[in-house]
Amino acid sequence: MSSTPRSAAEVFEKIPTQVFESSAQAARHLAQEVGALIAQRAAEGRKLVLGLATGSTPVPFYRELIRLHREQGLSFANVVSFNLDEYYGLSADHPESYARFMADQLFDHLDIPSAQIHIPSGTVSADQVFAHCRDYEERIEAAGGIDLQILGIGRTGHIGFNEPGSSRDSLTRRITLDRVTRQDAAADFRGEENVPRFAITMGVGTILRGRRLVLMAWGDNKAAVVARAVEGPVSDAVSASFLQEHSQASFFIDRGAARDLTRFRLPWLVGPVAWSPRETRRAVCWLAGELRKPVLKLTDEDYNEHGLGDLLSEQGPAYELNIRIFNQLQHTITGWPGGKPNEDDTYRPERAKPYPKRVLVLSPEPQDAVVSLGGTLERLVQQGHQVTLVTLTSGSLRVPDSAASKFAGILAELAQGDAAKPWAAAKSYAHEALDALAKKGEFGEDSAQLRQLKGLVMRGEQRDAALGCGLANACVQFLDLPFYEEGRYRRFKPGPADSAKLTALLRSVEPHQVYATGDAADPSSVAGIAMRLLVEALRECAGDAWVDACSLWWYRGREKALQAHEVDMAVPLSPMQLERKIRALGRYGALNSLELGVAEVNRQLAGDYDALGLAQYEAIEAFARGKL
Ligand code: GLP
Repeated sequence: MSSTPRSAAEVFEKIPTQVFESSAQAARHLAQEVGALIAQRAAEGRKLVLGLATGSTPVPFYRELIRLHREQGLSFANVVSFNLDEYYGLSADHPESYARFMADQLFDHLDIPSAQIHIPSGTVSADQVFAHCRDYEERIEAAGGIDLQILGIGRTGHIGFNEPGSSRDSLTRRITLDRVTRQDAAADFRGEENVPRFAITMGVGTILRGRRLVLMAWGDNKAAVVARAVEGPVSDAVSASFLQEHSQASFFIDRGAARDLTRFRLPWLVGPVAWSPRETRRAVCWLAGELRKPVLKLTDEDYNEHGLGDLLSEQGPAYELNIRIFNQLQHTITGWPGGKPNEDDTYRPERAKPYPKRVLVLSPEPQDAVVSLGGTLERLVQQGHQVTLVTLTSGSLRVPDSAASKFAGILAELAQGDAAKPWAAAKSYAHEALDALAKKGEFGEDSAQLRQLKGLVMRGEQRDAALGCGLANACVQFLDLPFYEEGRYRRFKPGPADSAKLTALLRSVEPHQVYATGDAADPSSVAGIAMRLLVEALRECAGDAWVDACSLWWYRGREKALQAHEVDMAVPLSPMQLERKIRALGRYGALNSLELGVAEVNRQLAGDYDALGLAQYEAIEAFARGKL
């Protein structure tokens, strides 16, 4: 693969990087490679040694391997596997252990003999850790070394669990998990406090000894770290950057994860550009940012001296180009996200009619919508639209035990000492929940009753937060999509029952405006799944009369915020509105650090608009126009 001639567009990339249309396509490509390797090794009378990874990233690849095994008879009898890592402190049967993950997601569905599977032990005693790790290294060597190592990447740039600071020569060892990594695993463990503090991981040196390395990454929350690993200096601050020193390493990524690579971010620096309106706006905003000048002050020389002579000759002079882009940016700003009734809407992002509109706001997990459009929700309600906020999943997996315990405790106390009949059921419900909490211990799984209780806790928080944005309880609905109720993070399996529920919802509301998210998210995240379900449901509704009159607006949630050049509708928030939004967010019991930082994201975008020479606002919520 490294012998493939690289295009000029990739000059900044120090690791061959293939950008796929989707993770499914990349998974198919990689699975083909594995199939060919198995055959090649079989012809040589040897076994194939695979290095395997966990996390949501490799799941589509594992599903494809399972499909090849089932449908095409691809056998894994001659495969030996070594996993990268394991949480220290978790037994192999813990639901979040990597041993369990691998069994559920791959091994139980293949014909690989269990004696050929290797995963570091999470329960080896502290005084045996060193020997266990040395033994792991020796086993890899005895198997002939790893032929193909599969990798994901953490937001800290880690491969395996080689957190920042891991040296190039590090070997299998016990490490302390970084704070960011523990935050990212918080949802898996129902709260950051439950995430193990340590892990055993192959070292960077162990990984680099593999003959071929493939790192996969999906969704734009990985974009920044992918760009650092591929284009930045080799450094132990981003352990994936060490792959630059390996002649057979490749990155397989999707468009979301690729978006910070120079060839996508600043394409004019690497070759000719077809100057679409979007690329033109991107270039002008970038130039203004680079020179710290408002758009209207950019000169012909500024364009020429910064690699944009081509754009200038096509669309210049600067004066005219500047005005055009300035007006486009100006026209994205509106205090009327549902359209301004009885006004000329030629240059407004949303049309004036019909008024009022039926507005459907989809929140994949309960907090997503208020995080990203709390202020816009408030405006829509104030401006008289019929807003329905629909929470697609219960969010129960994120609710900490303490919250369930609090509610069960209140119920138990209410019922206490009152022998009157009506309380009996409540009392036994409360005690059943409290007993289940006590019994399951720190890492146990929630019973169906606990999941239900946690879902109800989330409903309460959601209604409360929505009310903080002016939305009455009656306007808040819950869909409890089955893929979430029956699944776990990083391994959800959406099916026809999910999209059918969404189709029924769309048909019951017949919205004029839909707000949704997930268009650039990791496809296995709740937002990514929700987005695909929505697309399927919309396809199902194609031909319905309401569809033609409906507009779709994408918001960005926990993934990377929209940048000024990507925004089609910018809704300014006053300082008081932002404060109310922050207060509404306070109604959620468990937000992660990215969600908590949303006010800063909203302020940042307002700062960017200001720097481009537009009006100064306190904060802005942003949307991109979708196609129905
Ligand atoms: C964990 C694993 C890594 C994985 C990373 C990213 O830290 N130890 O091997 O690459 O998570 O996880 P995900 O693929 O879910 O984004």
